[in-house]
Amino acid sequence: MAIYLDNAATSFPKPDEVHRAVVATLRDAGANPGRGGHYLALAAGRVILETREAVAELIGAPDAARVAFSSNATEAINTALFGFLRPGDRVVTTTMEHNAVTRPLRALQERGVTVVKVQGDARGWVHPADLRRACSVKTALVVLSHCSNVTGTLQSIEEIGPWCRKHGIAFMVDAAQSAGVFALDVMHMGIDLLAAPGHKGLLGPQGTGFLYVREGIELTPLIYGGTGGNSHSDLPPAAMPERLEAGTLNTPGLAGLAAGIRFLQREGLAAVRAHEAQLLAELIAGLRQIEGLMLYGPLDPERHGGALSFSIQGRDPAEIGYLLDREHGILTRVGLHCAPDAHRTIGTYPRGTVRISPGYFNTLDDMRFAVSAVAAVAGHPAA
Ligand SMILES: Cc1ncc(COP(=O)(O)O)c(C=O)c1O
Repeated sequence: MAIYLDNAATSFPKPDEVHRAVVATLRDAGANPGRGGHYLALAAGRVILETREAVAELIGAPDAARVAFSSNATEAINTALFGFLRPGDRVVTTTMEHNAVTRPLRALQERGVTVVKVQGDARGWVHPADLRRACSVKTALVVLSHCSNVTGTLQSIEEIGPWCRKHGIAFMVDAAQSAGVFALDVMHMGIDLLAAPGHKGLLGPQGTGFLYVREGIELTPLIYGGTGGNSHSDLPPAAMPERLEAGTLNTPGLAGLAAGIRFLQREGLAAVRAHEAQLLAELIAGLRQIEGLMLYGPLDPERHGGALSFSIQGRDPAEIGYLLDREHGILTRVGLHCAPDAHRTIGTYPRGTVRISPGYFNTLDDMRFAVSAVAAVAGHPAA
């Protein structure tokens, strides 16, 4: 039997109620939401509305209409960056970002946006003072991930957001690794734009994600097309969320996302976080005993989210991951994890690391088994 430890890529398994919500929506509300006034279209529309309200409540958004759905975090991030930044703008980001942020910013750089990257430290932490220093009067936007998908490092967004607000700089958070595990409050954290996937910590199906846009910010859409209303016009609707939601939404997936959020709310985010921190502590304590093994990230449960990276001296992470899978049934991820800058920051470029990312459904026994498997692989180099 395999032990899935790749929840930073996508969470697995999902709660049973997520499966049930997807199937029930496909079966009983399978019409197109927002298109047509018949009862099935209205039922599909209700599913979307309920999910929007569940997301808004989860992130402390005062108005659910400011939440637009996307098919993943990448699409939400692209919508925010291409919709907000203009040639001549200056954006401050960090060396700990996922390619979902780095690549759109690179493309925008080629269109005349200035991109400044603030260096993280060896544990992946970006000092808020360094970030503040990098912001000049011309800075339009600060964008960073709340929690690194490579090192699990948590950034101090609750300090950075209010500072940006005070200085008239928009603040955008990539919550791909934190939504569903850490409490997010866009109002108190001074967040103007927040992108998250539905399929990781929120326990929803793949093909779901969202972007929160603060009232007062109107993004240029990334995608144009039908929205079910105002069909006489060849312009996109001005109002959110339709403005950013051209084309048919993933109604069954979003029903699953609402079920995932309801599950988390019932369990309590604090309990979810406490359990994952306990798993991480067990993992760190065990892996620390293995000779020649290097651990990365803060390694302090207070400042460390779900993902834990390691490498073994003289060994290729790809080989370690392969042996863990084939000989021990431990499913990890190896390499650069779509974040080459983060590996340059912590000194693991270009080979990358082995990443273990437990989820809410893993147990302490899973962690002990994983540690003994890593020890066996470490003590048994391939010829
Ligand atoms: C920090 C971070 N940002 C963005 C993404 C992209 O998420 P998605 O796969 O939903 O597009 C990921 C995915 O691993 C991530 O870890």
